[in-house]
Amino acid sequence: MVVISSVSCFTFTILASLFIFSYAQVPCSNYTFVSHQHFNSCIDLPHLDAHLHWTYFPSVNKVAIAYRAGQDPSGWIAWAINPTDTGMVGSQALVAFYDSNGSITTYTTPISSYSPSMQPGDLSFQVSNMSAEYTNNEMIIFAVLGPLNNQTNFNHAWQAGDTVSNNIPQMHTTTGPNVLSFGEIDFLSG
Ligand SMILES: *[C@@H]1O[C@H](CO)[C@@H](O)[C@H](O)[C@H]1NC(C)=O
Ligand SMILES: *[C@@H]1O[C@H](CO)[C@@H](O)[C@H](O)[C@H]1NC(C)=O
Ligand SMILES: *[C@@H]1O[C@H](CO)[C@@H](O)[C@H](O)[C@H]1NC(C)=O
Ligand SMILES: *[C@@H]1O[C@H](CO)[C@@H](O)[C@H](O)[C@H]1NC(C)=O
Repeated sequence: MVVISSVSCFTFTILASLFIFSYAQVPCSNYTFVSHQHFNSCIDLPHLDAHLHWTYFPSVNKVAIAYRAGQDPSGWIAWAINPTDTGMVGSQALVAFYDSNGSITTYTTPISSYSPSMQPGDLSFQVSNMSAEYTNNEMIIFAVLGPLNNQTNFNHAWQAGDTVSNNIPQMHTTTGPNVLSFGEIDFLSG
């Protein structure tokens, strides 16, 4: 999954030179966190201007992640793994947005239906060291997940929405990239 063929590299080079005057997209492997965190692996996700960075710690079955995605300050971002299913229901999600008090906030929320409350709640695994930041028009969620029950390969999904109301992320678009933003991730790869 992390393997990039020479064809797509070539295509990327052409696209990069075509769009050189608009925006130089930095591949995740070249990205430097302002707060100096380092992660061993990363993937540029195919939708929603999103990137996942991680370091897996096999001895404790934990993974440190940073999920970052382009977003306006008024919107929200989320990333989730689903340990039990392929769909949205069962997703164990991390969300971030600007709280109405003006600070960027992040918390965990389990998705148990297609109209989830999006209220803070515990996930099916431990999450620690959570923080969020807003840098260069991107929201970034940092967290340590696990222990992960000896599983490293997960269905994952990521999402974004334009509005937050009373500190609750509101419904995302249900067409286009917002319904394509899922896949599989193996924390042992990369
Ligand atoms: C990414 O980093 C590599 C190695 O340092 C460098 O050769 C390459 O030009 C960088 N690419 C971009 C788009 O910054
Ligand atoms: C803003 O609210 C968040 C909870 O969403 C809280 O963690 C944070 O401490 C608050 N910040 C300020 C400056 O009041
Ligand atoms: C989590 O935070 C604790 C306390 O700040 C720190 O000691 C630990 O190294 C962090 N864990 C990871 C995996 O970053
Ligand atoms: C994970 O695997 C290790 C080594 O195989 C084993 O000792 C441990 O009991 C397993 N833990 C779980 C939660 O299955």
